Amino acid sequence: MRSPPRYIFIETNRRCNLKCEHCNYWHDKDTDAANYLPLPRKLEVLGEFHELNPQGAMVTCGGESMLDLDTYFGLMRECRRLGLTALSVVNGTRIQTAEMADRMIAEGPHEISISLNSPRREVHDRTRGVRGAFDKAVKALRLLLEARARVPGSTSRIYVMGLVFDESYRDLEHFYDFVLNDIGADRLKLNSLQPSFAQHDPTDAFFRDHSKVDPDELCDIIQRCNERFNLGLNPVWIEQVRMYWQSLARARDLELGWASKVETSEHICNTYDRNIMVDSYGKARLCFSDAFGGLKLKQKGDLKRFWENAGAIRREMASCNRPCGISHSVRRVSARLDPARQPPQRSFAARRADFFADLWPLRPVVDPRASESAACQE
Ligand SMILES: C[S@@+](CC[C@H](N)C(=O)[O-])C[C@H]1O[C@@H](n2cnc3c(N)ncnc32)[C@H](O)[C@@H]1O
Ligand code: SF4
Repeated sequence: MRSPPRYIFIETNRRCNLKCEHCNYWHDKDTDAANYLPLPRKLEVLGEFHELNPQGAMVTCGGESMLDLDTYFGLMRECRRLGLTALSVVNGTRIQTAEMADRMIAEGPHEISISLNSPRREVHDRTRGVRGAFDKAVKALRLLLEARARVPGSTSRIYVMGLVFDESYRDLEHFYDFVLNDIGADRLKLNSLQPSFAQHDPTDAFFRDHSKVDPDELCDIIQRCNERFNLGLNPVWIEQVRMYWQSLARARDLELGWASKVETSEHICNTYDRNIMVDSYGKARLCFSDAFGGLKLKQKGDLKRFWENAGAIRREMASCNRPCGISHSVRRVSARLDPARQPPQRSFAARRADFFADLWPLRPVVDPRASESAACQE
């Protein structure tokens, strides 16, 4: 039997209340929600994931998943009941009262990340398309921290997911200072700009216009932050960030977004060894892109069947250098050196067993691939 998956990513919806320029989820309106995998089936799928890995973690995807609170807290409740860890990135607009913050600490994800595109209100609001978005995100963080302080011994982690792009990277020192010292959140995670998520338009103007980042200057700034804020960053990750931005700098067709030919010069992703992504329709894949095959989960047992019979997809993905490889959700290397944060390494024997398991069956149990789409991420 193959080593189990460590994460399951569950798409909770396909709509949003902000209008980010780097993400097109808000163009979707969930008009086809009647055909989505209903919550009871989502919970069954979580149960199957738990059978594969009782120590695993669930990550919500969207859209703004907190627009659908029944689904959101339904998934959280089931994770807590099963003993799975729940992680969620949200834009903060739905955490605007002390009551909701208390509920998030008591019943919500174990790791809550609020997205900020910049420590500057003007940049965040402009690139997120809605005035007031920055103040709401910061208010959500402060409310969550206050709510956690009301629960002695709470282990909830409260992070910021920060976007690295041309308008934010020179502000990173200020960004860390604002998040760690002014707000007092536990961590700022850096997320490099990729082609627009859920890309609708054939021209990805934001990716084209906002990818002008000097890789060496960025890495010098990250290194400075590492020393000043004692971040314990992984030097391998810093070099991967440099390599990522160097790869973008060489590309000549970034305006095509996910259809661009841009590839990272190194293979840095291992999603196929650890993740299952389940989209709104219940289709399981090994990454967010639908350039690779997947399996629609129709009945109990399908999740395990997919995971254990996806060897052909894994072999294809093992040479995939798409830009999404830099994201937290799929990257092999952790951004931190902290051993507690390092993914458990499979032993030589386990890797050998997985290699042979992946060769079987010769005809994989997958649906035909669809056209290229985009990503969502932790
Ligand atoms: C897709 S959003 C969904 C959750 C929630 N709506 C939010 O904004 O946090 C998850 C994370 O992906 C990031 N994201 C969206 N588009 C991106 C892109 N093109 N490149 C890198 N990160 C992106 C967002 O900034 C956010 O931190
Ligand atoms: S990044 Fe989040 S808040 Fe922005 S449009 Fe996408 S889903 Fe909405």
